[in-house]
Amino acid sequence: MPPHPDGRALLIPKSPRLVAVVLAAAALLAAGPSLAAPVAPAARGGAVASAAPDATAAGLEILRAGGNAVDAAVATALALAVVHPEAGNLGGGGFAVVRIGGQAAALDFRETAPAAATPTMYLGANGQPVPGRSLVGPLAAGVPGSPAGLFELHRRFGVLPWAQVVAPAVRLARDGFVVTPRLRGEIAASRALLARFPASAAVWLPGGVPPPSGSVMKLPELAGTLAAYAERGPAAITTGAAAAAIAAASRANGGILTEADLAAYAPVWRDALRFAAFGWKVAAMPLPSSGGIIMGESVGMLERLGWRTLPAGSVQRIHLEVESWRRAYADRFLLGDPATTLAGPAQLLDPAWLARRAAEVDPVRATPSTAVRPWPGSAGAERRETTHLSVVDGAGNAVAITTTLNGAFGCGLLVGPVGFLLNNEMDDFATAPGKPNLYGLVQGLANAVGPGKRMLSSMAPTIAWRGEDVVALGSPGGAYIPTVTEQVLLAVIVDGAALQAAVDAPRVHQQWLPDEVAAEAAALAGGLGDTLRRRGYALRIVPRLGEVNAVRRHPGGVFEAAADPRGPGAAGVLPR
Ligand code: DON
Repeated sequence: MPPHPDGRALLIPKSPRLVAVVLAAAALLAAGPSLAAPVAPAARGGAVASAAPDATAAGLEILRAGGNAVDAAVATALALAVVHPEAGNLGGGGFAVVRIGGQAAALDFRETAPAAATPTMYLGANGQPVPGRSLVGPLAAGVPGSPAGLFELHRRFGVLPWAQVVAPAVRLARDGFVVTPRLRGEIAASRALLARFPASAAVWLPGGVPPPSGSVMKLPELAGTLAAYAERGPAAITTGAAAAAIAAASRANGGILTEADLAAYAPVWRDALRFAAFGWKVAAMPLPSSGGIIMGESVGMLERLGWRTLPAGSVQRIHLEVESWRRAYADRFLLGDPATTLAGPAQLLDPAWLARRAAEVDPVRATPSTAVRPWPGSAGAERRETTHLSVVDGAGNAVAITTTLNGAFGCGLLVGPVGFLLNNEMDDFATAPGKPNLYGLVQGLANAVGPGKRMLSSMAPTIAWRGEDVVALGSPGGAYIPTVTEQVLLAVIVDGAALQAAVDAPRVHQQWLPDEVAAEAAALAGGLGDTLRRRGYALRIVPRLGEVNAVRRHPGGVFEAAADPRGPGAAGVLPR
């Protein structure tokens, strides 16, 4: 891949076999001020990894202009809302984990259920779920969190002017961007969904067909929305004419989103979920995401089971990972919005519980999932899109953002006048008790639909550090997200793998129910698959698990950035 036009930022070439560790020297770390104040990168340079080259370039442009990791991450996210519309968004939500000035914080800009939502809204008269109701059209949409969320992230920690951070996205929407083979393919795969809504088809199916790859796409309505957002912040989207257009489009298509819902939405700062992993400190996403708790619980079991001492890639390592995930995902059944959850880190990351869970693991046989019950203290597949981006700057500030519309192109409805799609995040609720969701997850009452509630997520933006060494990473992939993220993280922090090699390595996954192990074929090579079958595992080969975008800043200011060869993303390093 050619250098960025200004000749300074390097986009890192990526191939499954190429260990594309492009290292660039940056200035030595300078300690930042306290969490309360925005922190400018005292040293230049940085690294960005995202799902689209244009978005990675936007982040690098902002770093080069003197922005910190937060400025660059917000610019990258907004560029993704233009060039990666199947997942990048203004009409969805997400989570950001930030480590800045040496302290960690987590921003929850997850969608909320509209005020008129009810626990039975996705069930028919027979009490059974109505196919598609929580997935297609605006009845499936939660109240978007991205406009207020990205603005708040920048308001608290950004150092460049807001309009400057939004500018690359405005430019891409207004002046156009080149349709990539991936975008064309995604549109083709979601053609039936988009064709249901004339405003969506008018933008994404011009002339009734997906735009050819290589063509230039301009999005004037979205450019107008972004320009207003640059000038007036989220009120430009969540109030006034834009909000009226969103509510009207929702209503006209059977949805329940109101202007009041849009205006009332507020992102929430939460304490990052903190746990230790093999000598590293980790800041992960707390509820309403299950992602951090699943990783923390799994790592807590693996530490107790001697996982570190086993050879990398060995069947015994896979066995222990799978058994730890089976138990962590069983406990996920109890999780939901912080206001209604039946358990949380206090119970599930409690050392006594971790020790008990670890002790349940049979070292040579699969435990049937039916024999694994959720934590007892209470009463109680991939054609979908999310996207993750990671940024680190010269001062070691790091940002991990995972954002989503849930399914590819969300609920399929583009609101014409504002030029963006609404999500179908409501499907992440337990829309019908005991029924698996889009990702096969069986979820509990704590995650029932309720007005204003946030639906339980699996997204796992994560930052890990040891001293001045900091890694930021995460992935899309629904239920796969925590296990995929954990495997890459452990390869880096336990086995010392180069970031790209850790991202490239084949993956496995288990989520309690269904009682099977999903695996990329390469993960089962060398007879591992047969050994696992003999131990009692049902195996299902899947084409790919997740799509990790990760960055690392080594002590002394050497950067690594890795985009996943499973997708067409791009990683780039800005030398100082
Ligand atoms: O929040 C969640 O867990 C899901 N809405 C994420 C969806 C997803 O990752 C789709 N990506 N491939």
